[in-house]
Formats: sequence, structure tokens, C-alpha cells
Amino acid sequence: MKRDGTASSPSPPSSRLLLDTITQSPEETIQLAMDLARQLSPPCLILLEGELGSGKTTFTKGLVAGLGAAREDEVTSPTFALVHEYGGKGRVFHVDLYRVETPRELQTLGLEDLLTRSAFEIVEWGEKFARAPEVSRLRVRFEHAGPEARRIIAEFS
Ligand SMILES: Nc1ncnc2c1ncn2[C@@H]1O[C@H](COP(=O)(O)OP(=O)(O)OP(=O)(O)O)[C@@H](O)[C@H]1O
Ligand SMILES: [Mg+2]
Repeated sequence: MKRDGTASSPSPPSSRLLLDTITQSPEETIQLAMDLARQLSPPCLILLEGELGSGKTTFTKGLVAGLGAAREDEVTSPTFALVHEYGGKGRVFHVDLYRVETPRELQTLGLEDLLTRSAFEIVEWGEKFARAPEVSRLRVRFEHAGPEARRIIAEFS
């Protein structure tokens, strides 16, 4: 109970660090994502954060392949389409919010509705999805650590 007598809202689930590592090549990033895919179960929202060219799409190739939804070479950036779907039956969605500028544009995409019970939703520029649902959420941050090196930090939050 808070001092005014109302029940306090439950504290947000504490974040759980899954990995914090540096990869030395795109291939290593893909392999890392494939391994991580085995630890995920639907519904799961995967928010990818990091500057241009930091490896979000490369990582998505590994995730989608690891989830068995498509081959890694079938995964391309949905920068213009905004949303790609892999594996049929609404199983794996790949979203790129780079070009989305307003809350209204974001709302039009209906990202919350894609996250059905059996779905994985991977969102590049995930930091723009400010009101992302807090359930089953994995945040992955990418940082340049050299020409071919990328620091990748993943945590459930
Ligand atoms: N260790 C690494 N991990 C991932 N990509 C790497 C690595 N080293 C070099 N690269 C290169 O960096 C680039 C990453 O591009 P990618 O499209 O994955 O980034 P992105 O974060 O999706 O960019 P954008 O913001 O434009 O969508 C690719 O050209 C890739 O070959
Ligand atoms: Mg990309």
C-alpha cells in the first residue's frame, strides 16, 4: 500500500541479461543470433536498437533462420515495406521503423496486433516503439566496436 492508501502497482519485472559479447564478423553475429533463437518462445517481441550499420538486419538473418522461418539469404531489410513476414501463419514478423517519424504512423502499423500467441516480432529501430507491450520482451543493443567488431547486449526486460 502507498501512503495515500491505494495499492501500489506491481514493480516492472527486473531485466535479465542474456548476453553481452563482441562479435568479429557478420557471420559470427548471424551464428550468435541463431543460438539465441533457441532460447526464445512465442509470443516474443524482439527490439533491436543501435545506429545505422550496427548489425540489426544481419542479426535478424540469424534469428529468422534459427527460428526455422526462412533461410538467412531470404531475410532483407524491410525499410520500404516496413513489415516482412516469414514462415507463414503469422509466425515471424520483421519490422523496420527507420522511416517512421510520428506516433500516428507507428499506430497505423498495428505492431501490437501482430504479436499473437504464436508470433515472434523483430523490430529494427525498436527504440521508436516507445509503448511496446512489456510482456515477453527482449531488447538487443548494437554498438560499433571496430570496423568488423560489434558489441551486442541482449536482455529480457
Ligand atoms: N561483427 C559484425 N556483425 C554484424 N555486421 C557486421 C559485422 N562486421 C561488419 N559488419 C557489416 O556491417 C553491416 C551491418 O549492416 P546491417 O544492415 O546488419 O545493419 P543495420 O543495423 O540493420 O543497419 P540499418 O540501421 O541501416 O538498418 C553489414 O555490411 C555487415 O557486413
Ligand atoms: Mg537494418
